[in-house]
Amino acid sequence: MGVKSIFIKTFGCVQNVADSERIKAYYWNGGWTEAEDWRCCQLIVINTCVVRESAENRVYGFINEINKYKKTSGKEIKVVLTGCLVNTKSRQRITGVDQVIQTDKISLKLKPLRGAGAALVPISNGCNNHCSYCIVPKARGQERSRKMEEIMEEVCEAIRNGFKEIVLIGQNVNSYGADLDNSESLVSMGKKRVKSMFPKLLEKVAKLPIEKISFVSSNPWDFSDELIEVISRYKNINRLIHLPLQSGDDDILKRMNRGYTAKEYVELTRRITKKIDGAKFSTDIIVGFPGEDEEAFLNTAKVCEQVGFEVAYLNKYSPRRGTVSAKLYRDDVPQAEKRRRWRILDNLINKKVTGKSEHR
Ligand code: 5AD
Ligand code: SF4
Repeated sequence: MGVKSIFIKTFGCVQNVADSERIKAYYWNGGWTEAEDWRCCQLIVINTCVVRESAENRVYGFINEINKYKKTSGKEIKVVLTGCLVNTKSRQRITGVDQVIQTDKISLKLKPLRGAGAALVPISNGCNNHCSYCIVPKARGQERSRKMEEIMEEVCEAIRNGFKEIVLIGQNVNSYGADLDNSESLVSMGKKRVKSMFPKLLEKVAKLPIEKISFVSSNPWDFSDELIEVISRYKNINRLIHLPLQSGDDDILKRMNRGYTAKEYVELTRRITKKIDGAKFSTDIIVGFPGEDEEAFLNTAKVCEQVGFEVAYLNKYSPRRGTVSAKLYRDDVPQAEKRRRWRILDNLINKKVTGKSEHR
C-alpha cells in the first residue's frame, strides 16, 4: 500500500484550529501525510462551524464538492466529520460521511502539531452561558475545564518548543475552573456565578518566560477586579483585550440574555483602562438582532464611540435552529439593513472613518 494521505479542512474559530492541530497529530502519529489538494488524498477531515448560516453553508458547499468529485472520478475518499455541526440537527442533512468525531473525543492529551505564530492552548470546552442567539452550548455542551496541571504542562511544552506567544482559548475563558471548584458563588452583573480560577491560571502562565499571553473569549460578567489586577501586574499579558459587546442597547442585550447594560459594559472598560496601562479593546458585535430598530442600533454605535475599539468582528444576525432567539423572535431586520449597519460599524471601528453624519 502507498503513502496514506489526509486533508484537514478547518472552518470556524480558533477553537477548531486548535482541535485540528490535535487531529493532525493523531493521523501523523499513525503514519499519514498531508495532501496539498483534497482531490489527491484518501481521507478528508472536515472540522465544521455552525455559528452563523454563512459558516454552515460553506461546510455544505465543500461537502457537495467532495460528493460530486467522488461520483465523477470514481475515487475512494473517506470523509470524517467533526466540529460544531456534528451535534446539531443539520447533521442529518449531510450525506457521504464515513465517520463522525465528537469534539470532546479529540484527545487533549495528544501533542498538537502547531502552526507557526502563537501556541493555542485550550483551557475549557463548552459554554454555560445562554446567550439567546448562540448555538455553541448545543454544539459543544456544558463548560468543562481542563485541569490546571495539564494546561501548565502544555504551556511549558510549547515554551520548550520555542513558542514565544501563548493564546489561552475557550468559549468563556474567564469563567475557567467554575466546574472544578464550585465552593464560592457570587453575583456579577446580574448573573449568579461560581468564582473563577482564571486569574490564578493566568498569573501562573504569566510568570513563565513568554513574551505575549492572550486569551479569547472572555465575557464581561466574569471580568473580575482580581483578573484586572493580575493583568495589570504582568507586562507580558496582551493589552489588547477581547471583550464581546454584542449590542449597546439595553433592550436588545436583555433579549440576548447578556445580563449587563450598556452602561455597565462601558464602566467595565473604564475600570480596566484605569488599572491597566495601555489597555485597548477588540470586540464582537451582532447587527440586526430581532427588534433592533434604528435607535437600538445607534445605541450600539454610541458605545463603540465611547469605548473606541481597536477592532470589531461584526456579524449579521442569523437565526440558528435550536436557539432561544430563533424560537421566540422573528428575524425582522431586512438583510439589506443588516448590511448597512454592518458597513457603518465597519467604517467607524475597523476603518476609523468618522462617519458621524452617516449614522446620525
Ligand atoms: N448570528 C450572528 N452572529 C452570531 N454570533 C454567535 N451567534 C450568532 C448568530 N446566531 C457571533 C457573536 C459571537 C461570535 C463568535 O459570533 O458575535 O461572539
Ligand atoms: Fe467556533 Fe462557535 Fe464555530 Fe464552533 S460554532 S467553530 S465554537 S465559532
